Amino acid sequence: CENVGGANLFTEEQEALVVQSWSLMKKNAGEWGLKFFLKIFEIAPSAQKMFPFLRDSEVPLDQNPKLKPHAKSVFVMTCEAAVQLRKAGKVVIRDSSLKKLGATHFKYGVADEHFEVTKYALMETIKEAVGEMWSAEMKKAWCVAYDHLVAAIKTEMKPSS
Ligand code: HEM
Repeated sequence: CENVGGANLFTEEQEALVVQSWSLMKKNAGEWGLKFFLKIFEIAPSAQKMFPFLRDSEVPLDQNPKLKPHAKSVFVMTCEAAVQLRKAGKVVIRDSSLKKLGATHFKYGVADEHFEVTKYALMETIKEAVGEMWSAEMKKAWCVAYDHLVAAIKTEMKPSS
């Protein structure tokens, strides 16, 4: 998404597009979360190796109990980022949580390209989930919220001292 930053960073309409589409998906969060991550691994199979609970697991991917919670975190936190962007003009995450998020993703070697693939898969999943509600504006709103959230996480992606 272009046009990240600048004046009128995130409008009420954009916030509503994100919140509404997420509330639609929430009921089947597990199912959409699974589809979301299967898309990521389809595009970038090597990303699977980063998740310790997938690396050492005998259970088939789609039955791994730990995959859905991470997928849901991405949805929920992006949605929260949208709300904060509209309210505060920036993504607000408690300091200790942000540090932990940054440290975890750094530790497991999550790189720019993983965040990119994940963004693509996120958009594809939402598009599929909302059907006719999907629009360029909705895509842009999710995209801006996601980019700001990832930028916040990246500021804390460094070795923990
Ligand atoms: C852990 C959120 C993107 C891989 C976590 C945790 C949260 C989270 C809440 C667990 C809390 C913690 O240990 O700090 C997010 C959000 C993302 C994102 C909000 C994007 C906006 C990604 C991407 C990848 C990834 C793109 C790789 C493809 C991991 C791994 C862990 C993790 C490997 C550790 C899993 C474990 O401890 O078992 N993430 N994540 N994350 N995330 Fe993410």
